[in-house]
Amino acid sequence: MTWTTIRKTPQPGEPAPNFADYETGRANFSWETARAELEGLPGGGLNIAYEAVDRQLRAGRGDAIALRWLGKNGERREFSYAELARSSNRFANGLNRLGVGRGDRVCVLAGRIPELYVAALGALKTGAVFCPLFSAFGPEPVRVRLAKSRARVLVTTTLLYERKVRAQRSALPDLEHVLLTDGGGVEPGAGSFHALLEAEADQFAIPFTAPEDWALLHFTSGTTGSPKGAIHVHEAVVAHRLTGRSVLDLRPGDVYWCTADPGWVTGVSYGIIAPLANGATLVVDEAEFDASRWYAILEQERVNVWYTAPTAIRMLMKAGGDLARGRDLSALRFAASVGEPLHPEGVVWGLETLGQPFHDTWWQTETGAIMIANTRTQDIRPGSMGRSLPGIEAAIVRRRSEGGLDLLEPGAEGELALRVGWPSLFRGYLDDEERYRQCFAAGWYLTGDLATRDVDGYYWFLGRADDVIKTAGHLIGPFEIESVLLEHPAVAEAGMIGKPDAFAGQIIKVFVTLKPGYAPGDALRKELIGFARTRLGPAVAPRELEFAVDLPKTRSGKIMRRLLRARELGLPLGDLSALETDEAQNL
Ligand code: PRX
Repeated sequence: MTWTTIRKTPQPGEPAPNFADYETGRANFSWETARAELEGLPGGGLNIAYEAVDRQLRAGRGDAIALRWLGKNGERREFSYAELARSSNRFANGLNRLGVGRGDRVCVLAGRIPELYVAALGALKTGAVFCPLFSAFGPEPVRVRLAKSRARVLVTTTLLYERKVRAQRSALPDLEHVLLTDGGGVEPGAGSFHALLEAEADQFAIPFTAPEDWALLHFTSGTTGSPKGAIHVHEAVVAHRLTGRSVLDLRPGDVYWCTADPGWVTGVSYGIIAPLANGATLVVDEAEFDASRWYAILEQERVNVWYTAPTAIRMLMKAGGDLARGRDLSALRFAASVGEPLHPEGVVWGLETLGQPFHDTWWQTETGAIMIANTRTQDIRPGSMGRSLPGIEAAIVRRRSEGGLDLLEPGAEGELALRVGWPSLFRGYLDDEERYRQCFAAGWYLTGDLATRDVDGYYWFLGRADDVIKTAGHLIGPFEIESVLLEHPAVAEAGMIGKPDAFAGQIIKVFVTLKPGYAPGDALRKELIGFARTRLGPAVAPRELEFAVDLPKTRSGKIMRRLLRARELGLPLGDLSALETDEAQNL
């Protein structure tokens, strides 16, 4: 393996990095010390929202700006930590008045609007479980997640409610309260979020929540079955706060921009919790990607720390460096990336165009927080995800067929595994003990990612061991996509793959076989794509659809998506007999 190393020279006046030196950091690390840095609830216990917001008030930062919201139509609103504490207290009081609290699921289906942040923090304060739903999901993924989570409360907008929820309400018996952020009282069966807030007091005494109490529910996908609800507990905030400081280099007063949508795990762990727990100011942009707008935000908001993703970096690269020229980006101290492979060119482009290289970081919904990273003081090896953080033991392993694991040597390719024992590791998949159990072997959590480690401990991503894909940074499982297509009367079978794409990383492509009486053709292709788009939402719908006479299957009838992918890419098909077993499909 060859690489070049990027060594950064500290700029004059730059504050010293929070995380001084990798080897010392690892040698001196203990989770006990990290836990002790949290304040804990005044009466005992631990609560994410308290550590994120109320604690900052006690530290005298009540007037500091917690959230700076940039509306898509040019509006601009700021919320101090004290204001965020008051609004989230009001929402917590309102939830309690509705009889909602400890352990109840509160879902939010909304774009990047201030109410989402208030609802998340308020729900956490009551001991309820906050569950974000991506606003670009169509009605079907929304219904599945609302049903699986058994949500009692949904906070959303009138438009999203009308388009994605209202018609399905009778199929959601647990959903007692819908609170609309922009109205209420008009829609039958829905109330007003703001009216609820206005009726309540500013003060709320957070009840005791234990570190192991459930706090967050994030849906994620695997190869088989419907989405899995990964459960995180309040103790996860230990890792959020720590990695916010050590990896993202956050400190009180920093202006911080995480471009991930809060409908996914990054937008919650690093778009809400980690930065607030470190006293930073969140920049929240309601608008969709636009290269000029993004440079203007970096410049005008004087963003110090930026956490974004390879798809966005590729789109900025495509838009051309000219847009950045003449911009004063001198406030930017640290730029990082997550969620998909970050190509070496992206790292170098960051350095040349923004004055900062992108630092790749790796983690997953299940790990709850960053596990592997290029930190500010480390030399960057472009193309590598970086090294495992203090407190995290990573390895490349091979599962033994009879159970157990072999730990592999540097240079070997295998599955990335992490030794169990950090606070933000998920505590279960909702109602699916068996799938949870399958993620562990011999005290290690198995990530499903294929990677290799070099002799210096840098990890290099190779791909997934299963059939999930990343499109524009969103993790998509084949089951949801294929099931929707199978609902169409013309479709007999469907198989989804990720097709490489210069911008989105991968796009969703499906292969379908048709039922007797239907013939392939452009009109049917358009109809099927449209059908899937309406139900799934544009962000997760197939972009390409190909008709096939049959789909390759294992002896027991499972579709072999890996063969579809190999065919699509014109790859050698290799040893087919090895792939024909069900075990090979379940790697
Ligand atoms: O395959 C890895 C990829 O994203 C997966 C996790 O996705 P999700 O659960 O949606 O979590 C989002 C929070 C990061 C991983 O299993 N992935 C994540 N980071 C990287 C990555 N692939 C390559 N390089 C990365 N830095």
